Amino acid sequence: MKAITVEPKKSGSAQLENVSEPDFRSGSVLVEAIAVGVCGTDVEIATGKYGWAPPGERRLVLGHESLGRVLEPGPSSGLKKGDLVVGIVRRPDPVPCPNCAVGEWDMCRNGQYTERGIKQIHGFMSERWRIEPEYAVKIDPTLGILGVLLEPTTVVTKAWEHALAVGRRAFWEPRIALVTGAGPIGLLAALLGIQHGFEVHVLDRTQSGLKPELVRALGATYHSSRVADVGFAPDIILECTGAGEVISDAISSIAASGIVCLTGVGHGGFLPTIPMADIASSTVLKNNVVIGSVNANKRHWYKAAEALARADRSWLTRLITGRECPEDFTKALGRGSQHIKVVIQFADI
Ligand code: BGC
Repeated sequence: MKAITVEPKKSGSAQLENVSEPDFRSGSVLVEAIAVGVCGTDVEIATGKYGWAPPGERRLVLGHESLGRVLEPGPSSGLKKGDLVVGIVRRPDPVPCPNCAVGEWDMCRNGQYTERGIKQIHGFMSERWRIEPEYAVKIDPTLGILGVLLEPTTVVTKAWEHALAVGRRAFWEPRIALVTGAGPIGLLAALLGIQHGFEVHVLDRTQSGLKPELVRALGATYHSSRVADVGFAPDIILECTGAGEVISDAISSIAASGIVCLTGVGHGGFLPTIPMADIASSTVLKNNVVIGSVNANKRHWYKAAEALARADRSWLTRLITGRECPEDFTKALGRGSQHIKVVIQFADI
């Protein structure tokens, strides 16, 4: 079968190749791939900055934003042939650490977790894949291709949950949320902010086009200024760019008692000009919290599926701005800034 694979840590090594059918040991449920979303992490892996092949192998099947159709449900999954499913990305570490032991693998303490398409387990960019029944999330069939947005929605579901949980440390009535970055993660974070009842602002360097339109269609406000120039102090900033300069601005601009939640995994770039002790003083004097948030556990997958089901389908549809066939995967990986979410489509829905 065809699969898009990469040699991790080797830039430009991605290729479409023939690989063996998925190993039965990777799960009793056999799934036909419909679509796989491409995100910044895939680009980081394809450019040699991130990613790990399975032990003893040189190449990794890419892809962690899946959508597929069950071909063989296996003996105990409760799934039926034809059900639409999305695969959970992370697997608990084998030790396991206390967090993995209680199913909070997103909070793994020892770093020995594995992730499909990212860290030591093959991903979903192959014509067929197998999955353990407990890691296959059945989605509302009426979502159709929009199910491919579930994985990025889980990431922001966790980010929101954690930011709000931190806020409960004291009396706090947050009202204004700023999302930095109007890519898929930022837009989905904005969607959830609206669902949580916030006044939502989204900031991105793009000045016109689909991003501002999608933000306004949510009932949120769009800014193309710097964070420091938006004209208010946000109670929550969900940082979805991973860009050093924006992160630095976010930490300096947050309201007293406010929370900055970082979701981007960037590398290099900007060197801060503000001395660390000054950043710390401002954080102390304003009781701020800066948290990082990565991945998602089953609770977030459940909540994310509910959030997607509640969202306006026509708005979600506009997030998918490009569909490429597997042969054209390089176009999907090289997606331009005019795109929101590009998916590689393996089969018709
Ligand atoms: C994925 C997460 C993953 C993270 C770090 C993100 O792109 O959505 O599931 O945990 O990368 O590897």
